[in-house]
Amino acid sequence: MRQIFDGETTVTEAVFQRCIESQCSGTLAVDDTSFICPQCGGLLDVVYDWSRLSVPESLTFFEKRWSERNDPLALSGVWRFRELLPFADSRWVMTIGEGQTILQRADGLCSYVGLVPGRLFLQYEGMNPSGSFKDNGMTAAFTHARMVGARRAACASTGNTSASLAVFCSATGLMRAIIFIGAGKIAYGKLAQALDHGALTIQIAGDFDDAMQRVQQVSRQLGIYLVNSINPFRLEGQKSIMYRVLEGLRWEVPDWVVVPGGNLGNVSAFGKAFFELHQLGLIPRLPRLAVVNASGANTLYQLYEKLRIRWNDGNWPKQQVQQFFAQMQAEHRRASTIASAIEINYPVNLPKALRALQWCDGVVCEVTDQEILDAKAQVGRHGLGCEPASAASVAGLKRLRQQGVIGKDERVVCVLTGHQLKDPTATVAYHSTDPHLFEEVLGRRGVRRPTFANRAVQVPNDLNEIIKAIELYA
Ligand code: F0G
Repeated sequence: MRQIFDGETTVTEAVFQRCIESQCSGTLAVDDTSFICPQCGGLLDVVYDWSRLSVPESLTFFEKRWSERNDPLALSGVWRFRELLPFADSRWVMTIGEGQTILQRADGLCSYVGLVPGRLFLQYEGMNPSGSFKDNGMTAAFTHARMVGARRAACASTGNTSASLAVFCSATGLMRAIIFIGAGKIAYGKLAQALDHGALTIQIAGDFDDAMQRVQQVSRQLGIYLVNSINPFRLEGQKSIMYRVLEGLRWEVPDWVVVPGGNLGNVSAFGKAFFELHQLGLIPRLPRLAVVNASGANTLYQLYEKLRIRWNDGNWPKQQVQQFFAQMQAEHRRASTIASAIEINYPVNLPKALRALQWCDGVVCEVTDQEILDAKAQVGRHGLGCEPASAASVAGLKRLRQQGVIGKDERVVCVLTGHQLKDPTATVAYHSTDPHLFEEVLGRRGVRRPTFANRAVQVPNDLNEIIKAIELYA
């Protein structure tokens, strides 16, 4: 049990927030919305005193929820695991049917990535209401926002967080969405969602990293509820992606989970999910985590693999990391990748990601835009449409197989974070016969060949010519 020093009073709670910095470990009440430690500026965790909460003895407990699906809380792929994120009373829960996603076996892709058939699984989060994994976290943040009586919510976004926020606000009518985006830095599918769902859309002359800084300042100044993944309640919702992965594997732990890394919320949430399950005795071991950066936005790769920065039980070398960031700033290095969702150089969840990498014996790799788009085309060819950032996981797996980090017999789950229709421009440019479009969208980013292009066949409007073309190609 923890005591919380909440102003004048001392309260004892089963759920609270705690600074992750080992030298600080300051605590805050569950309804605090600072989302950053007021004492040391560290990131916060949502912490549970499990001994005072009702936790199932086995993960099979959650199977009964499948027969209760007329209850929105059992239908939700997040809240049907509510005993594992018990920060809110059920009456506050805001759900729009998120998390109806399943683990798909992907034998067709095995030879491409170099795995034995039967060993690759894709967790396709594009099936969420707003088309990305963000809805898992947004339902949790929204629930917390409702608990604390927020009326306005804001985020900075490369597009998917903003789309999710806009959908939640418009579907529930509970809050006004205010989104910060970098001008020209967001794929059209995502911008379309923000506009159509009525979000106040603030385009900043800058990129995601600029927008992220501004939204934190503005939220603090105006008392607006922040839904970026710096908000620890969002990460509670994203833990459920891993619960569904386990469920898809009949509660067996995979050898690897591979995930694209941007602001590093997912990797942080996945690490916490596995750490807690292990702590509760619900899984026998933790899987290994692999985080994949785009090479044009590879901060985590640089820090973890090149500079060997480690969490080190909380004693991570902060100064060295700060120096890295200072140098990046001095050199005006900006993130640049076709995978615009992960075009981020200053990931806010870096310390939590380092911690997750320690818990899960993780690795980090980087992949080029060429590798990302080729992997994306292969994913599409085998039945699931994803956006470029999502395909980074598959491209990363291929690299890690080539490097021998992952074995060909190991059981691997790649998370496909967002839907194909989020970014039609990248897909059409890759498959297009128009060299100008290819150059404008992809060539300038160093993509040389559309290796798996599926070209549209140009034919005159003539029945015989059309039939000839079909006979020739199909
Ligand atoms: N994949 C997609 C499709 C994303 O939209 C994002 C992040 C990531 C991967 C990276 O996840 O931040 O948890 O490491 N998109 C955020 C946004 C930044 O604003 O939509 P992460």
